[in-house]
Amino acid sequence: MDGGDVLEIGPGRGDLLLDLAEAMPATRFVAIEIGKKRYFKLIPRIEKRALNNIQLICGDARIVLTNHFSQGAFSKIYVLFPDPWPKSRHALNRLLNAEFIELLSRFLTIGGDLYMATDVDWYAEWAMTNAESLPLLENMGNPFVDASDMFSYVPTFFEQKWRAEGRSIYYLWFRRVKLASPSSTDPL
Ligand SMILES: C[S@@+](CC[C@H](N)C(=O)[O-])C[C@H]1O[C@@H](n2cnc3c(N)ncnc32)[C@H](O)[C@@H]1O
Repeated sequence: MDGGDVLEIGPGRGDLLLDLAEAMPATRFVAIEIGKKRYFKLIPRIEKRALNNIQLICGDARIVLTNHFSQGAFSKIYVLFPDPWPKSRHALNRLLNAEFIELLSRFLTIGGDLYMATDVDWYAEWAMTNAESLPLLENMGNPFVDASDMFSYVPTFFEQKWRAEGRSIYYLWFRRVKLASPSSTDPL
């Protein structure tokens, strides 16, 4: 769908953010990056390309979103190659749990899209199961394996890295729907 702000969580080096913001100067892009070094490296990249449609925030998206944005604010949300935290003792750090995906769905406008990508098969399956458990989201596909043109963006740093190693990439695409019978769980 067209219109509305676009959110990227964990832009890293900013490949997607810079490319889309340059291509769509009338759209406002919000990027939330928890890594201080990554945040400070990204600022000059944005300035170098003279992009004035990006709001870059350093912080934890799980906190920043709730404190600073309104529900339904975004038409698209990207979470690309979040760290899978493979060790079980780190499992609680995995970003794409059902609670966080539900939070994201509430910040999407109705008809808005949530895009997620990972190179880790079990993480893709887990994130997909979590997203599918939420009535506010509709799965627009499967995990699409190696459908590199699905999100229409230049591959990010991590996508390029994993592709160069010959890994498969899993793409998840979910759409925010309006609940058939409005209830207290439907914010819009
Ligand atoms: C593996 S990197 C991927 C970077 C980029 N998306 C790419 O594909 O090249 C994961 C990124 O997510 C950021 N990140 C992890 N947890 C986050 C959170 N809770 N809020 C915001 N950013 C987060 C990390 O600092 C890092 O920049």
